[in-house]
Amino acid sequence: MSKFFYPLIDNPYRKKDINEAVKVLKSFKITSGIKTINFQNTFKKKIKVNNALMVNSGSSANLLALQCLINPYRKKRLKRGDEILIPSLCWSTSLWPIIQSGLKPKFVDVEKNTLNIDLNDLKSKISKKTKGILIVHVLGNSTNMNELIKIKKRHNLYLIEDTCESLGTKFNNKYLGTYGEFSSFSFYSSHQISSGEGGMICCKSQEDFEILKALRAHGWSRGLKNEHKISKQNKHLDKRFIFYNSGFNVRATDIAASIGLSQFRDLNKFIKTRNINRKKIINELNKSKVRDKIAIIEENKGVKASWFGIPILLSKKINKKLFIKKIEKDGVETRPIISGNFLNQPSIKKYNLRSNTKMKNADYINNYGFFIGLPTKPISSLIIKKLVKVFEKSV
Ligand SMILES: Cc1ncc(COP(=O)(O)O)c(C=O)c1O
Repeated sequence: MSKFFYPLIDNPYRKKDINEAVKVLKSFKITSGIKTINFQNTFKKKIKVNNALMVNSGSSANLLALQCLINPYRKKRLKRGDEILIPSLCWSTSLWPIIQSGLKPKFVDVEKNTLNIDLNDLKSKISKKTKGILIVHVLGNSTNMNELIKIKKRHNLYLIEDTCESLGTKFNNKYLGTYGEFSSFSFYSSHQISSGEGGMICCKSQEDFEILKALRAHGWSRGLKNEHKISKQNKHLDKRFIFYNSGFNVRATDIAASIGLSQFRDLNKFIKTRNINRKKIINELNKSKVRDKIAIIEENKGVKASWFGIPILLSKKINKKLFIKKIEKDGVETRPIISGNFLNQPSIKKYNLRSNTKMKNADYINNYGFFIGLPTKPISSLIIKKLVKVFEKSV
């Protein structure tokens, strides 16, 4: 039994998800195969991306996107030291693939009210060396994508959308993950849908898709569009084992794909139930005496959010550490908003990545922000009342 009456996420899997995985196990074909292909195709059609490849995590999806941008098979590619702008409120593996690919991150502050990248700060950070933007769509919310795309076009920048926390969110009726050259998604257990571990890397161009396929699986020529041509050019080799590019192995299993696909089919249902739960909780919080002591993050203009949690900022009068300690003790599980201002992490110091500008809002979110979960099943009014009472007791 969980020690939390209000956990971050209840068991995210239904019997029918597990039954799909059991079917895969019973087929004895459990490595990446037909289920993975089915999931990719279903995903591609619904989200309306040009190309989708399932990988073993959202982190791997980010890694492949950045590695693709520096790949020698790309006609136009980034070179060592080129700058990528990134919000300081980001996840570890939003950032590290930039450095692992020999590129240079430049940090941008975020907005307090949306948690997303501050477009004015972004504009002020663009220099001749800037070649791309990696944005993070935080906890189901988004920046103004119209404005961002204008900036991207004006300065001729690549856009990578880290959509690991925002599967199903739309901006102006278009899914997040369809705006950039690349987008990544995560199916980790606390997110909008889960496949246990898993992710998706999507891209616009066919050139990038071919590179991503090779990068995902050892650099192999297998499954590439010009596989036949490559084998003809390399007659001295066993045509089944031609390593055409550099590579990783970040494939997902069909077990994960079957669970992911089963959940993905119910994405709209999850979004709807979560929205109903969210409204009920916010209504109660707004009627309570914590009303003036907290700010609940709302959808940005133009955004139809797909939430998996409720991000909250405490007022400055409240000691966050103490508050979190109290509500966790009373059975409400919490998490920081991503990892707070990532510039505060020890790895930043070790790799000498500090920024010479202040991240005022990321720091505020770091010091006063947290989120609670949002179940995919209807929540009882009894639990909501208990949740609000715990909040009231702890402020
Ligand atoms: C914004 C963001 N990007 C990337 C990831 C990495 O996803 P995964 O856990 O599937 O590797 C996460 C993880 O939660 C995340 O929050």
